[in-house]
This record gives sequence, structure tokens and C-alpha cells, in this order.
Amino acid sequence: MKLWGGRFETGPSEVFERFGNSLHFDKRLLSADVRGSQAFARSLTRAGVLTEAECATIIQAFESIKVDAASPDFFTGATDEDVHTFVIRKLGERVGALAGKIHTGRSRNEQVSLDTRLWLRDECDRARALIQALLSGLLDLAEKHPNAVIPGYTHLRRAQPVLWPHYLLAYFEMFSRDYERFTEARRRTDVMPLGSGALAGSGFPHDRDAIARDLGFAAVTANSMDVSADRDFALDYLYAASVTMIHLSRLSEDWILYSSEEFGWLELGDGVTSGSSLMPQKKNPDSLELIRGKSGRVLGALNSLLFTMKGLPLTYNRDMQEDKEPLFQAADQVCDSLEMAVCVAETVVLREAVPFTAADESWVVATDLAEALARNGTAFHSAHQIVGRLVLESVRNGKKPGDWTPETLAAFAPEFTADVARLLDPREGMKTREIKGGTGPNTVAAALLEARRRLSALGLSELS
Ligand code: ARG
Repeated sequence: MKLWGGRFETGPSEVFERFGNSLHFDKRLLSADVRGSQAFARSLTRAGVLTEAECATIIQAFESIKVDAASPDFFTGATDEDVHTFVIRKLGERVGALAGKIHTGRSRNEQVSLDTRLWLRDECDRARALIQALLSGLLDLAEKHPNAVIPGYTHLRRAQPVLWPHYLLAYFEMFSRDYERFTEARRRTDVMPLGSGALAGSGFPHDRDAIARDLGFAAVTANSMDVSADRDFALDYLYAASVTMIHLSRLSEDWILYSSEEFGWLELGDGVTSGSSLMPQKKNPDSLELIRGKSGRVLGALNSLLFTMKGLPLTYNRDMQEDKEPLFQAADQVCDSLEMAVCVAETVVLREAVPFTAADESWVVATDLAEALARNGTAFHSAHQIVGRLVLESVRNGKKPGDWTPETLAAFAPEFTADVARLLDPREGMKTREIKGGTGPNTVAAALLEARRRLSALGLSELS
């Protein structure tokens, strides 16, 4: 069945049908399509196009389509152009000629916008719920090791000592922003387009606000041409998904390194690692590698839709059908990856002594020493020089910070008074960083409590 045969002498070629039909992927929008069509039928009834009895018959038939669509062979053999055409054909099989009225004044351009928005609204909530679970997992992991010290890195070189919870709270901030981005994407998606027609607005007296209320939308779109032309809401979602994947990928990269033999800090659970078919000793971090790998696909999906939309003349163009596969794939990849990351976070174990030793045996305390000299009155530039020389001397002679005593240190440079020598212990220097947002132990303990409070506030107020 076609929704448009009248003006054509022949039907589409087999090649064009194979090339252009979208049912095999946009069938994922079936329940949104049915839900939107039921609301449209109610609106047509309010507008005087359908009688109450016709409306009831149509709604009932749509309901049965939704039920039947749960069976896997419902789509077998279907050659319809898209899900919208398929659903109307199925309606016709159930209600006969009456089905011909459901599309009164409606265009698939507004219909596909509506369906995608209905579907994507739920996807935003799915992603947000999974981010909440990950945020919670990160806090659990921080609370298991509240006092663990690790070297923080810049350039992947040991930089300054930080608390393990401070490190995890950095990711808490990133994923909290991702949550906000999905909330924002949801707000832009939550706008009802029906009543726009193909591009010029419907010629029938729909109460558009009533349709929005019927479908639980927060607002109605303001311009019919914009409706047919716009996929910004999908781009917003893909951007949120992409940034989330970047954060997941960086977390994965960290943990792949930290669980390597070279670092040896983290033990990943057996359940999220794989062995080698040849090398019996291997325990590979495949789950994290796959998250890192899938991030490429999600970033690709964002780019794909950006390039599809670039330069399209207003309003609808068939190019826009190419939005769906990237969108569906990105939604699945980001949600699967979030779920996987939650699982990894639940099973990971920190061997506290290993990163502590890495901090203790290296010169991550150098900045603490230089700052202490500066607090005691040495110009920072000179302090930096003095500590730099101390590090050079130590590196030459294979000395660790712990090999220095207050006496040998004072002999090296008189500026190294006893209060400065204390800072050779990485746990001591951190106490000088009780600044808001810093790694001072009291600050981090308070930040951890605050993060818990923020997480429970998210759960209460945001998810609808
Ligand atoms: N299947 C199309 C899409 O996903 C919607 C149909 C609009 N088609 C059209 N030729 N106006 O974009």
C-alpha cells in the first residue's frame, strides 16, 4: 500500500523500494506512531472530522496493532515504505475504509517528528536513570576507600598526590553535567509538533494544546515550517550521548591503565574481564575496551546527522530519514555502555597500598615542598629552584623522598625547616589543600557528602 499513488502511472522500481524503504529500522517507532495516531484521532474527533463512534473504533484497532506488534512475525513480508504507512495499512485491515480518514490533513513530516520526539523523550529518561546508577556506583567506590592516596597525573606523569575519592568525584562532576545535558535535550524534545501539516499548518481546526496535553508534552511547536525542517532535538541528544561516551571512554582508559600489571592498583572483577584463547595467564579488560571502542560509534552518529542536516533547504527533505539509524544506534550504545560501566564500578577493587607506594616513592610531594618554602617567605621562583635541585640530586642518587631526614634536608638547604620536612609524606601535603574544590581530606569528605545529597536530589526532583 502507498499513501500517495494517485499521481503516478507506475509504481516505484524494485531498486528504489529497496533503497528508500525504512520499515526495517523505523519499525522501532511503532508504539510511538500508534500512540500519536490515537491522540490524532481524538483531535480529529474534537475538530468534527471523525464521529465519536468512528474514533472509538479506530482507537480500539490501534490498540490491537500495538498488542500484535509484540509478536516477532508481525512485520514478516511487509514491503511498506515506512512505519507510518505500515501502521495505516494494518489499520485498514482492521477497520476497512474508515482507515482512510485517520490521515486527514496530516503529513508524515509532522508524524515522524512526533514519533521521534515521543521515542526520544523516553530515551533521555533511560540514559538519565543509568547515569544516576553510575553516579551512585562511583560514590560507593569512593566511600569504600575514603583515605586512599593516589598520584594524580598530568601528561601521564606523576604530578601531585590526591585522594582516591577526589579522583572519583572528578568523574561524578562530568557525569552530573551529562545528566543535565540529557535533561536539556529532553526539554527541547518535549514539544508537540502535530497540527503543522506538511509545512504550512493544518487546514483543520485542531486544538494543538489539547493534543499536547493528551500526549504529555510540555509545549507545542511555534512554527510549522520549523517542524518539518528541524532535527536539532536529535542533535542535542546525540551531543549529550557523545560527551557521555567521551567521559566513559576516559574512565575506561584510566581503569585499563590502572588495572594493568604496570600500575597494578585496580583488580577488575572476573565477570567483566575475558581470557585469551592462547595465553592462559591473561585477564583482559574487554568490557572497558568495548566502552572505549563504542564511543567512536556514538561520536560517528553525531557527525553523521550533523553532516546530513548541513545545507538542506527548508523544509523536509528525504535525507532526513537518515537520522534514525544513527539515533537508534547511539541510544543503544550509550545506554549499554553506561550499564556496563556501572557493572565494572561495582566489581572493581582498589589495592590501596600500590598507588600509595607510587605516590610515596616518587616526587609528587615536590609542589608541596615548594609551596611550604614560599609560605615561609622564600620567593616562589627560588623555592621552585631549590626543590628542583633537591629532586635532581635525588634522581641522580636514586633517593626517594623517604630517604631524606629533617637533618639531611636542612643540610641540603637551610630553607628546609622541620615543618617543611614533614611534607615529604604525601598525606601531609594534602592537608594544605583544604580549599573549596581541592583534595584536602576534610574538603573531600564534605564533597563526598554533598555529592550524595546532590544525587538524591536528582532522584527526587528531576526524573519525571
Ligand atoms: N520516512 C520518512 C522519514 O523518516 C518520513 C516520511 C516523510 N516522507 C516524505 N516523503 N515526505 O523521514
